[in-house]
Amino acid sequence: MTDKVYIFDTTLRDGEQSAGVGFTIEDKLEVARALGRMNVDIIEAGFPISSPGDLAAVSLIAREVKGPVIAGLARAANPDIDACWEAVRNAETPRIHVFISSSEIHMAHQLRKNREDVIEMARASVARAKKYVSDVEFSPMDATRSDPEFVYQIVQAAIEEGATTVNIPDTVGYAIPRDFEEFIRNIRKNVPDIDKARISVHCHNDLGMAVANSLAGVKIGGARQVECTINGLGERAGNTSLEEVVMAVRTRRDHFGLELGIDTSQIVAASRLVSQTTGFVVQPNKAVVGANAFAHASGIHQDGVLKARDTYEIMRAEDVGAPWNPLVLGKHSGRHAVLKRCNDLGLNVETTELVDVYRALMAIADDRKVIEDADVVAVVTALRAQAATGAA
Ligand code: KIV
Ligand code: ZN
Repeated sequence: MTDKVYIFDTTLRDGEQSAGVGFTIEDKLEVARALGRMNVDIIEAGFPISSPGDLAAVSLIAREVKGPVIAGLARAANPDIDACWEAVRNAETPRIHVFISSSEIHMAHQLRKNREDVIEMARASVARAKKYVSDVEFSPMDATRSDPEFVYQIVQAAIEEGATTVNIPDTVGYAIPRDFEEFIRNIRKNVPDIDKARISVHCHNDLGMAVANSLAGVKIGGARQVECTINGLGERAGNTSLEEVVMAVRTRRDHFGLELGIDTSQIVAASRLVSQTTGFVVQPNKAVVGANAFAHASGIHQDGVLKARDTYEIMRAEDVGAPWNPLVLGKHSGRHAVLKRCNDLGLNVETTELVDVYRALMAIADDRKVIEDADVVAVVTALRAQAATGAA
């Protein structure tokens, strides 16, 4: 039997909680369709109680997007759960995702409830969701800052009421991989009915460790669902980046030994769509989807890649749906790359011309960040004109 890690995309819910992001209904449907094409396992389409518009958007996605499970988020309160059901009820496979905080700091200051009250609310809300739908996810919010014993208790209570996925959020991005994997392992050890549910991880990126924590939760902890977003969008510093988790599991299959259901060739298209609809620019050196993710600038690297791609590439641009144009000409480029670009442009530069072409291009390279194709054509044309005049 294959051991699969399920990809739960929350771009349209946690991603939409990024300051400055507000998707229209049309944006949401378009992004959900892109996620469907990518074959993500679960789409968390929104938080239906939060606004009539969000309820309508989740409901539209539930009707239109077939394939993935369509989930909605709900606090542990009846109106939230009822609104969530209303939104997801027409999905091919609906899920209700219920959460309540489990850390002392959240319970004391936000909920103003004690542990017994919170366990009761968790039980009642999972039981209510379960009346509507068989697929129920439960999250103890701020789990990584909670008393682990209390997390075991509340997770056990949720499973007793029928939760089929238990999600462990690092809500404030506080975890480090070593502690997080141990936390997940201890949940497996200390929750008596844990085998009746799938363990999920949901990590925020406040310390830049969301992907590392999620992968540690999977590899060593044994979690089999990762919650993530396209481009790592999300509350504050964002969430676990979908593209990084997926390509890490795929590229290092030797290490993880896990299957994925994702069509990775759709990754760059989804990244661009999310960037366009949110206005959040993807930094050029962003792993997997940045403009430079498969670009080589130094002469040594360019020469290596031209001889054999594996010298400096661990993934193929084509595998994530990006064109392979790896050579960026600039002041660090070598002759091999310049010759290749000249010939790609149909200039048929002879090796005898190359010394002068290279020298002339390097002379302008200091003033520019990148040597464009037009510069190459201009230099070769000018040198040939000079040579012709000299010969005449
Ligand atoms: O970060 C978090 O704790 C959440 C929960 C609602 C799962 O987003
Ligand atoms: Zn979150």
